Amino acid sequence: MSNVKFMSGENIPLEMHKVRMVQKVNLLPVEERLDCINEAGYNTFLLKNRDVFMDMLTDSGVNAMSQNQYAAMMRADDSYAGSETFYRLEAVLKDIFGMEYFLPAHQGRACEHIIAHTLVKPGMVTIMNYHFTTTKAHITLKGGSVEEIVNDEGLKIKSDASFKGDIDIAKLNECIAKHGKEKIAFVRIEAGTNLIGGQPVSMDNMREVSRICRSQGITLVYDASLLGDNLYFIKVRDPKYKDVDIKSITREITSLMDVVYFSARKLGSARGGGILLSDKELYLKMRELITLYEGFLTYGGMSVREMEALSVGLEETMDFEVINQTPIIVEALCNELLASGVPVVTPPGGLGCHVDAMEFCSHVPKEEYRAGALAAAIYLASGVRCMERGTLSEQRNEDGSERFAEMELARIAVPRRVFTLSQVKYTADRINWLYKNRSIIGGLRFTEEPAMLRFFFGRLEPTSDWPSKLAAQFRKDFGESL
Ligand SMILES: Cc1ncc(COP(=O)(O)O)c(C=O)c1O
Repeated sequence: MSNVKFMSGENIPLEMHKVRMVQKVNLLPVEERLDCINEAGYNTFLLKNRDVFMDMLTDSGVNAMSQNQYAAMMRADDSYAGSETFYRLEAVLKDIFGMEYFLPAHQGRACEHIIAHTLVKPGMVTIMNYHFTTTKAHITLKGGSVEEIVNDEGLKIKSDASFKGDIDIAKLNECIAKHGKEKIAFVRIEAGTNLIGGQPVSMDNMREVSRICRSQGITLVYDASLLGDNLYFIKVRDPKYKDVDIKSITREITSLMDVVYFSARKLGSARGGGILLSDKELYLKMRELITLYEGFLTYGGMSVREMEALSVGLEETMDFEVINQTPIIVEALCNELLASGVPVVTPPGGLGCHVDAMEFCSHVPKEEYRAGALAAAIYLASGVRCMERGTLSEQRNEDGSERFAEMELARIAVPRRVFTLSQVKYTADRINWLYKNRSIIGGLRFTEEPAMLRFFFGRLEPTSDWPSKLAAQFRKDFGESL
C-alpha cells in the first residue's frame, strides 16, 4: 500500500499488487457452520478448510507468493548434498543479515528445538520479552524455565506505546542479578511479539539488551519470524529510522544478536526455517543436531523449491511496499471494529487483529476459555476461522491447575496479500454483529485434553446450548443471507 491520498481524505488501504491466481472458497449457511464447529470439538484448528470461508487462523505458510518466487522454484537444484539452491539461499541470507553461518531447518520450531537442545540445561532460565508456544515447550522439555519481562505497556490491551514488545530493562538487570549469569541459558527477543498482539520491539531496546548481554557474556537470541512486521514499525514509528532503508535497519538489528532464527512460513512468505550465527563454536555444536534431526546441511528438511522461493521472498522482504501490506490491513480491520466499540489490542500490531475476549466475553467464567469460545463464535457468525491465543494456548501448571493467560485474545490473522478489502470488511461486519449479541456466547470445557500444546488438537464442548441460540439469532437478524 502506497503513500496515496484519496480525494475524500479517507485512509483506504491500497494494494500494491494484483491477483493473478485464485482459489474458490465456500461460505456455508450458519446451520452447517454449527454442525462443522460441533464436529471440530469447538477447536478452530480442527475445522476442515473446505468448511471455512476465510482462513484467518494464522499467517504461517499461507501467505501469497510473488510471481518471482514461483519462477525461482522452477530452477531448484534437487540434490541431497551440495545443491546450488542452498548456496544461493546462503548468499542471500549473508547479504541481508550479515552473519557468517547458516543452518537450514524445516520450520521455526525445529530451530527452537536445536537452540534449546544446545543451550538449555536442567534448572536454567531463559529470559525473554514474551514466550511463543513452541519456544516455551522446547525450553521446558529440556528442563529449563521461562521468565517473561515485557514492559508493562505490553500487557495492556489499550495503549499508546509504539513498541509494546520492548523488554523491561530494569527487570532484565534484576533477573540477571537474581539468577546469576551462569544460570541463564540465553536471553531471547521475539520480533513482532506474537502472543501479545503482534507488537514490535524498538531498536533502542534491542541495542540496550544487547549491550547488557554482551557485558555479561550472555547469549542473545533473536526470533526473526515476524521480522517483516517489526521492520515496518521501526520505519514508521521511530523518527530516527524514517529515512533509513529496510536492509540497513535489518543489518543494524542482526549486528546486535548472537543467534538469529526464523520461521520461513512467516518471514519470506515461503516455508522452512533457519538459524544464523556468527560464532563458529556454537555453529559447530548446532550443526551436528541439524544432520540428526533435520536433514543434510544443504537442505535441513526443506524442499529445494521452497528454498528458492525463500531466497526471493527474503529479498522482497527488504521492500517497504511489500512489508507494509499486512500492518495496514490489520490497522483497517482494527479501526472498523473499534468504531463499533469492539475491544481490540491497540495500537494495531502486525500479523493480525487481536480481539480482547476478556472484555468481549466478560460474562463467561474465565475457567471456561473465553478466547476459545469467542474464536468458535466468530466462526459461527462468519465462517471466518481465527485462533485462540489465551488460556487454552497455555500449558497447565505442574500440579495440574489451570495457568490463566495474561491476555485472552481471539487472533484474526491477516495472511500476507491473500484477502481483499471487501473480505476484510465482511469480517468486521460479522464481528460487530457478534459483539452486539455477545451475551449469547457461553463457555467451553474440555472433552479431550492433550498434555502438551493442547490447543492444537484438544476437543471441547459448549457448557450450554449457546451455539444453537447464536445460530438462531443469526438467522433471525440476517434472514436468507449466508
Ligand atoms: C514468533 C514465532 N516463533 C516461532 C514460531 C514457530 O514457527 P513454525 O510454525 O514455523 O514452527 C512461530 C510460528 O507461528 C512464531 O510466530
